[in-house]
Amino acid sequence: MLVSAKEMLDKAKAGHYAVGQFNINNLEWTKAILQTAEECKSPVILGVSEGAGKYMCGFKTVAAMVKAMDESLGITVPVAVHLDHGSYEGTKACIEAGFTSVMFDGSHYDIDENVAKTKELVELSHKNGISIEAEVGAIGGEEDGVVGMGECADPDECKMVADLGVDMLAAGIGNIHGVYPENWAGLSFETLDAIQQKTGDMPLVLHGGTGIPDDMIKKAISLGVSKINVNTECQLVFAEATRKYIEAGKDKEGKGFDPRKLLAPGFEAIKAKVKEKMELFGSVGKA
Ligand code: 13P
Repeated sequence: MLVSAKEMLDKAKAGHYAVGQFNINNLEWTKAILQTAEECKSPVILGVSEGAGKYMCGFKTVAAMVKAMDESLGITVPVAVHLDHGSYEGTKACIEAGFTSVMFDGSHYDIDENVAKTKELVELSHKNGISIEAEVGAIGGEEDGVVGMGECADPDECKMVADLGVDMLAAGIGNIHGVYPENWAGLSFETLDAIQQKTGDMPLVLHGGTGIPDDMIKKAISLGVSKINVNTECQLVFAEATRKYIEAGKDKEGKGFDPRKLLAPGFEAIKAKVKEKMELFGSVGKA
Protein backbone atom coordinates (compact mmCIF):
# COMPACT_ATOMS: atom_id res chain seq x y z
CA MET A 1 0.00 0.00 0.00
CA LEU A 2 1.74 3.16 -1.23
CA VAL A 3 1.45 6.00 1.27
CA SER A 4 3.27 9.12 2.42
CA ALA A 5 5.79 8.48 5.21
CA LYS A 6 4.11 10.84 7.68
CA GLU A 7 1.74 8.52 9.51
CA MET A 8 4.17 5.60 9.78
CA LEU A 9 6.85 7.88 11.23
CA ASP A 10 4.55 9.65 13.68
CA LYS A 11 3.48 6.19 14.92
CA ALA A 12 7.12 5.08 15.17
CA LYS A 13 8.07 8.16 17.17
CA ALA A 14 5.16 7.64 19.57
CA GLY A 15 5.86 3.89 19.81
CA HIS A 16 9.65 4.23 20.32
CA TYR A 17 10.77 2.22 17.31
CA ALA A 18 12.19 3.16 13.90
CA VAL A 19 11.13 2.51 10.31
CA GLY A 20 13.93 1.43 7.96
CA GLN A 21 14.67 3.25 4.74
CA PHE A 22 16.36 0.79 2.40
CA ASN A 23 17.73 2.22 -0.83
CA ILE A 24 16.79 0.54 -4.12
CA ASN A 25 18.88 0.09 -7.26
CA ASN A 26 16.81 -2.13 -9.53
CA LEU A 27 13.86 -4.52 -9.72
CA GLU A 28 15.49 -7.25 -7.59
CA TRP A 29 16.27 -4.79 -4.77
CA THR A 30 12.74 -3.42 -4.80
CA LYS A 31 11.11 -6.86 -4.81
CA ALA A 32 13.37 -8.16 -2.02
CA ILE A 33 12.59 -5.22 0.27
CA LEU A 34 8.83 -5.21 -0.44
CA GLN A 35 8.51 -8.97 0.15
CA THR A 36 10.48 -8.78 3.40
CA ALA A 37 8.37 -5.89 4.69
CA GLU A 38 5.21 -7.88 3.94
CA GLU A 39 6.57 -11.03 5.62
CA CYS A 40 7.64 -9.01 8.68
CA LYS A 41 4.39 -6.99 8.74
CA SER A 42 6.57 -3.90 8.89
CA PRO A 43 6.14 -0.45 7.36
CA VAL A 44 9.00 0.39 5.00
CA ILE A 45 10.52 3.27 3.06
CA LEU A 46 12.17 2.66 -0.31
CA GLY A 47 14.97 5.22 -0.73
CA VAL A 48 15.95 6.44 -4.19
CA SER A 49 19.06 8.60 -4.60
CA GLU A 50 19.22 10.89 -7.62
CA GLY A 51 21.98 8.70 -9.05
CA ALA A 52 19.94 5.51 -8.60
CA GLY A 53 16.92 7.27 -10.12
CA LYS A 54 18.95 8.13 -13.19
CA TYR A 55 20.29 4.56 -13.38
CA MET A 56 16.72 3.20 -13.31
CA CYS A 57 15.73 5.41 -16.29
CA GLY A 58 14.36 8.35 -14.30
CA PHE A 59 11.97 9.07 -11.44
CA LYS A 60 8.84 8.32 -13.49
CA THR A 61 10.08 4.81 -14.25
CA VAL A 62 10.87 4.25 -10.56
CA ALA A 63 7.48 5.52 -9.37
CA ALA A 64 5.65 3.39 -11.95
CA MET A 65 7.70 0.27 -11.12
CA VAL A 66 7.12 0.59 -7.38
CA LYS A 67 3.39 1.26 -7.81
CA ALA A 68 2.92 -1.72 -10.14
CA MET A 69 5.03 -4.05 -8.00
CA ASP A 70 3.23 -3.02 -4.83
CA GLU A 71 -0.07 -3.97 -6.50
CA SER A 72 1.15 -7.14 -8.21
CA LEU A 73 2.73 -8.53 -5.04
CA GLY A 74 -0.41 -7.64 -3.04
CA ILE A 75 1.58 -5.64 -0.49
CA THR A 76 -0.65 -4.65 2.45
CA VAL A 77 1.94 -2.93 4.69
CA PRO A 78 2.53 0.83 4.34
CA VAL A 79 5.24 1.60 1.75
CA ALA A 80 6.67 5.02 0.92
CA VAL A 81 8.76 5.68 -2.19
CA HIS A 82 11.10 8.41 -1.07
CA LEU A 83 13.72 10.61 -2.76
CA ASP A 84 17.02 10.43 -0.85
CA HIS A 85 19.21 13.57 -0.62
CA GLY A 86 17.25 15.46 -3.26
CA SER A 87 18.46 18.64 -4.91
CA TYR A 88 15.97 21.50 -5.27
CA GLU A 89 15.20 20.50 -8.89
CA GLY A 90 15.23 16.77 -8.13
CA THR A 91 12.73 17.23 -5.30
CA LYS A 92 10.32 19.05 -7.60
CA ALA A 93 10.75 16.37 -10.27
CA CYS A 94 9.89 13.57 -7.80
CA ILE A 95 6.81 15.39 -6.54
CA GLU A 96 5.62 15.47 -10.16
CA ALA A 97 6.71 11.92 -10.95
CA GLY A 98 4.47 10.30 -8.31
CA PHE A 99 6.80 9.71 -5.36
CA THR A 100 4.96 9.59 -2.03
CA SER A 101 7.79 11.17 -0.03
CA VAL A 102 10.83 13.35 -0.70
CA MET A 103 13.96 14.55 1.02
CA PHE A 104 15.28 17.99 0.20
CA ASP A 105 18.91 18.16 1.31
CA GLY A 106 19.72 21.86 1.62
CA SER A 107 22.48 21.24 4.16
CA HIS A 108 25.17 22.56 1.79
CA TYR A 109 23.43 25.96 1.56
CA ASP A 110 23.78 28.52 4.34
CA ILE A 111 20.97 28.18 6.87
CA ASP A 112 18.87 31.09 5.47
CA GLU A 113 18.86 29.63 1.98
CA ASN A 114 18.24 26.13 3.33
CA VAL A 115 15.22 27.52 5.26
CA ALA A 116 13.84 29.46 2.25
CA LYS A 117 14.09 26.53 -0.16
CA THR A 118 12.83 23.98 2.39
CA LYS A 119 9.81 26.21 3.15
CA GLU A 120 8.85 26.41 -0.53
CA LEU A 121 9.21 22.64 -1.00
CA VAL A 122 7.21 21.87 2.19
CA GLU A 123 4.27 23.81 0.73
CA LEU A 124 4.57 22.10 -2.64
CA SER A 125 4.88 18.59 -1.26
CA HIS A 126 2.03 18.99 1.25
CA LYS A 127 -0.23 20.38 -1.49
CA ASN A 128 0.38 17.05 -3.24
CA GLY A 129 -0.10 14.87 -0.13
CA ILE A 130 3.60 13.98 -0.02
CA SER A 131 5.77 13.87 3.11
CA ILE A 132 9.05 15.77 3.20
CA GLU A 133 12.36 15.34 5.02
CA ALA A 134 14.84 18.17 5.49
CA GLU A 135 18.47 18.12 6.58
CA VAL A 136 20.56 20.26 8.89
CA GLY A 137 24.29 19.64 9.37
CA ALA A 138 25.86 17.55 6.62
CA ILE A 139 26.10 13.77 6.94
CA GLY A 140 29.67 12.62 6.46
CA GLY A 141 31.11 10.46 3.73
CA GLU A 142 30.07 10.12 0.11
CA GLU A 143 26.86 8.83 -1.40
CA ASP A 144 26.31 8.96 -5.14
CA GLY A 145 28.59 11.95 -5.51
CA VAL A 146 26.99 13.86 -2.58
CA VAL A 147 29.84 14.51 -0.15
CA GLY A 148 29.36 15.66 3.45
CA MET A 149 31.84 16.41 6.23
CA GLY A 150 30.06 14.68 9.14
CA GLU A 151 29.53 17.75 11.29
CA CYS A 152 27.10 17.84 14.20
CA ALA A 153 23.97 19.90 13.56
CA ASP A 154 23.16 23.01 15.59
CA PRO A 155 20.01 22.25 17.67
CA ASP A 156 18.70 25.82 17.20
CA GLU A 157 18.97 25.49 13.42
CA CYS A 158 17.18 22.13 13.68
CA LYS A 159 14.33 23.84 15.50
CA MET A 160 14.14 26.53 12.79
CA VAL A 161 13.83 23.92 10.05
CA ALA A 162 11.47 21.68 12.07
CA ASP A 163 9.16 24.68 12.56
CA LEU A 164 8.72 24.93 8.77
CA GLY A 165 6.37 21.96 8.99
CA VAL A 166 8.65 19.23 7.65
CA ASP A 167 7.50 15.68 8.46
CA MET A 168 10.93 14.31 9.45
CA LEU A 169 14.31 15.84 10.10
CA ALA A 170 17.79 14.50 9.33
CA ALA A 171 20.40 16.05 11.58
CA GLY A 172 24.10 15.26 11.55
CA ILE A 173 25.27 13.66 14.80
CA GLY A 174 28.65 12.35 13.62
CA ASN A 175 27.10 9.77 11.27
CA ILE A 176 28.75 8.96 7.95
CA HIS A 177 27.54 7.29 4.74
CA GLY A 178 29.30 4.07 3.76
CA VAL A 179 31.55 1.90 5.93
CA TYR A 180 32.76 3.65 9.12
CA PRO A 181 36.53 4.21 9.42
CA GLU A 182 38.45 2.42 12.21
CA ASN A 183 38.96 5.67 14.10
CA TRP A 184 35.29 6.80 13.98
CA ALA A 185 34.35 8.65 17.18
CA GLY A 186 30.79 7.22 17.29
CA LEU A 187 27.44 9.03 17.37
CA SER A 188 27.13 12.20 19.43
CA PHE A 189 24.22 11.37 21.75
CA GLU A 190 24.68 14.72 23.46
CA THR A 191 23.84 16.45 20.17
CA LEU A 192 20.94 14.07 19.49
CA ASP A 193 19.49 14.67 22.94
CA ALA A 194 19.73 18.47 22.52
CA ILE A 195 18.05 18.26 19.07
CA GLN A 196 15.26 16.04 20.37
CA GLN A 197 14.58 18.44 23.26
CA LYS A 198 14.28 21.38 20.84
CA THR A 199 12.20 19.57 18.20
CA GLY A 200 9.77 17.61 20.42
CA ASP A 201 7.53 15.23 18.46
CA MET A 202 9.43 15.59 15.18
CA PRO A 203 10.55 12.16 13.88
CA LEU A 204 14.36 12.32 13.59
CA VAL A 205 16.26 10.53 10.83
CA LEU A 206 19.56 8.69 11.21
CA HIS A 207 21.44 8.45 7.91
CA GLY A 208 24.48 6.22 7.40
CA GLY A 209 22.89 3.19 9.11
CA THR A 210 25.50 0.79 7.69
CA GLY A 211 27.88 -0.45 10.36
CA ILE A 212 26.47 1.47 13.34
CA PRO A 213 26.71 -0.96 16.30
CA ASP A 214 23.37 -2.33 17.56
CA ASP A 215 23.66 -0.69 20.99
CA MET A 216 24.13 2.75 19.39
CA ILE A 217 21.11 2.14 17.13
CA LYS A 218 18.97 1.28 20.17
CA LYS A 219 20.16 4.31 22.10
CA ALA A 220 19.48 6.57 19.10
CA ILE A 221 15.92 5.21 18.88
CA SER A 222 15.43 5.87 22.61
CA LEU A 223 16.47 9.50 21.96
CA GLY A 224 13.90 10.13 19.21
CA VAL A 225 15.26 8.57 16.01
CA SER A 226 12.26 7.14 14.09
CA LYS A 227 13.75 6.52 10.64
CA ILE A 228 17.06 4.83 9.90
CA ASN A 229 18.62 4.75 6.43
CA VAL A 230 20.53 1.71 5.23
CA ASN A 231 22.11 1.47 1.81
CA THR A 232 25.72 0.20 1.67
CA GLU A 233 25.07 -2.86 3.87
CA CYS A 234 22.58 -4.31 1.35
CA GLN A 235 25.06 -3.65 -1.48
CA LEU A 236 27.83 -5.44 0.42
CA VAL A 237 25.81 -8.59 1.17
CA PHE A 238 24.47 -8.69 -2.41
CA ALA A 239 28.02 -8.48 -3.82
CA GLU A 240 29.36 -11.09 -1.41
CA ALA A 241 26.61 -13.63 -2.15
CA THR A 242 26.98 -13.11 -5.91
CA ARG A 243 30.77 -13.48 -5.72
CA LYS A 244 30.47 -16.75 -3.76
CA TYR A 245 28.06 -18.17 -6.36
CA ILE A 246 30.42 -17.36 -9.22
CA GLU A 247 33.59 -18.40 -7.39
CA ALA A 248 31.96 -21.77 -6.65
CA GLY A 249 31.48 -22.16 -10.43
CA LYS A 250 27.70 -22.40 -10.08
CA ASP A 251 27.09 -20.18 -13.09
CA LYS A 252 28.75 -22.90 -15.18
CA GLU A 253 26.63 -25.76 -13.86
CA GLY A 254 23.61 -26.48 -16.08
CA LYS A 255 21.71 -23.23 -16.62
CA GLY A 256 23.30 -21.53 -13.61
CA PHE A 257 24.05 -18.52 -15.81
CA ASP A 258 20.31 -17.73 -16.06
CA PRO A 259 19.98 -14.30 -14.39
CA ARG A 260 17.09 -15.60 -12.32
CA LYS A 261 19.53 -18.11 -10.80
CA LEU A 262 22.64 -15.93 -10.85
CA LEU A 263 20.96 -13.10 -8.94
CA ALA A 264 19.02 -15.34 -6.51
CA PRO A 265 21.71 -15.61 -3.76
CA GLY A 266 22.15 -11.81 -3.72
CA PHE A 267 18.38 -11.36 -3.62
CA GLU A 268 18.09 -13.69 -0.62
CA ALA A 269 21.02 -11.93 1.08
CA ILE A 270 19.23 -8.57 0.80
CA LYS A 271 16.07 -10.14 2.25
CA ALA A 272 17.98 -11.53 5.24
CA LYS A 273 19.73 -8.19 5.88
CA VAL A 274 16.48 -6.19 5.68
CA LYS A 275 14.77 -8.62 8.09
CA GLU A 276 17.68 -8.35 10.54
CA LYS A 277 17.44 -4.54 10.46
CA MET A 278 13.65 -4.50 10.87
CA GLU A 279 14.03 -6.70 13.95
CA LEU A 280 16.74 -4.41 15.36
CA PHE A 281 14.73 -1.26 14.64
CA GLY A 282 11.62 -2.75 16.31
CA SER A 283 9.30 -2.23 13.31
CA VAL A 284 8.29 -5.93 12.92
CA GLY A 285 4.56 -6.38 13.44
CA LYS A 286 3.93 -2.63 13.45
CA ALA A 287 2.13 -2.43 10.09
P1 13P B 1 24.67 3.87 4.34
O1 13P B 1 25.02 3.63 2.90
O2 13P B 1 25.87 4.21 5.15
O3 13P B 1 23.87 2.78 4.93
O4 13P B 1 23.78 5.20 4.36
C1 13P B 1 22.52 5.21 3.76
C2 13P B 1 21.88 6.54 3.82
O5 13P B 1 22.03 7.28 4.76
C3 13P B 1 21.03 6.94 2.69
O6 13P B 1 20.70 8.28 2.74
